[in-house]
Amino acid sequence: MASTAGKVIKCRAAVAWEAGKPLVIEEVEVAPPQAMEVRIKILFTSLCHTDVYFWEAKGQKPVFPRIFGHEAGGIVESVGEGVTELAPGDHVLPVFTGECKDCAHCKSEESNMCTLLRINTDRGVMIGDGQSRFSIHGKPIYHFVGTSTFSEYTVVHVGCLAKINPNAPLDKVCVLSCGISTGLGATLNVAKPAKGSSVAIFGLGAVGLAAAEGARIAGASRIIGVDVNPRRFLEAKKFGVNEFVNPKDYQKPVQEVLAEMTDGGVDRSIECTGNIDAMISAFECVHDGWGVAVLVGVPHKDAVFKTHPMNVLNERTLKGTFFGNYKPRSDIPAVVEKYMSKELELEKFITHEIPFSEINKAFEYMLKGDSLRCIIRMQE
Ligand code: APR
Ligand code: ZN
Repeated sequence: MASTAGKVIKCRAAVAWEAGKPLVIEEVEVAPPQAMEVRIKILFTSLCHTDVYFWEAKGQKPVFPRIFGHEAGGIVESVGEGVTELAPGDHVLPVFTGECKDCAHCKSEESNMCTLLRINTDRGVMIGDGQSRFSIHGKPIYHFVGTSTFSEYTVVHVGCLAKINPNAPLDKVCVLSCGISTGLGATLNVAKPAKGSSVAIFGLGAVGLAAAEGARIAGASRIIGVDVNPRRFLEAKKFGVNEFVNPKDYQKPVQEVLAEMTDGGVDRSIECTGNIDAMISAFECVHDGWGVAVLVGVPHKDAVFKTHPMNVLNERTLKGTFFGNYKPRSDIPAVVEKYMSKELELEKFITHEIPFSEINKAFEYMLKGDSLRCIIRMQE
């Protein structure tokens, strides 16, 4: 047992006091883990668009002051009552959506949408007692998606922690907590392209490039990147994307361009933009008879997906996925092993690395579109 077990820990955390304002590194108190909770020491964390989106709080319920962060790697410091599968010293990746192992979703082989621990972006407290574990001089600071990794210590429900190989470098595998697993799983678990097939990837941000990495691993021979930002094309070559289409270069819809390039349509397409028109194009560009399109991006709340039913009747399949269909506790340790065996490359996603004290730079890089992943070192 760590000497800190059962006690309040004082440590540094980056607090978002208000929407859109730079984070402030503060000394916070982190309460001990309660039943089914685990307190972890975060060693590395990285910034994802979801943090930025809720930090900007445009149109969503603002929950402040709050500690953001959900992609990270850490070490268990202490465990609460009832936690049997984790012990101090274990290496873990927190995940924003959990796996209770007990609900209908967790018991289904097909679903990873746990009833108990499914992502909740409005909730700023632990599900056990409805309280926050973070405070400053006794005043609560709220959690974000049950992870709040922009803190040297955080408290997470045991169901939102994947126990991983202790030899895995946390400064690399931390990116598997969210975006990279989402794109990778969309391809490997849902689109499942056959060796030698054609795959179109819409949106070449970190998620789309992870989907491309999945296509490379699956042995697809044509990986066609579709993006309205041609700056993304150069980088995408490193991810096995071998053909590029900018919809803005054509008068006709991009689905027609793709159909012409591929003799009737691609075998698989994966949409990683969040743009509704791209979603429709991604569906309509797959080959009739066997094509499968997978939607990954998070659309605008008022978006409506519109296509002629004939496109479906002609034996095209539309699927959607959440966190790449991975069950966090059951499946993520094996994704880490894919990296350990060099099947999966993660280094190429990491474009920046900064100390915790400079965390606001990570937001600047992402907002400018300069970074895929910026790793933040928590211990200096
Ligand atoms: N057609 C093609 N590409 C598009 C379109 C479009 N209509 N609209 C946007 N894009 C491209 C952007 O130019 C950008 O390169 O999609 C890419 C999205 O990349 P990022 O913004 O870096 O986002 P990323 O982190 O990869 O996440 C992608 O998944 O998790 C969700 O909310 C997230 O919806 C977002 C998506
Ligand atoms: Zn569950």
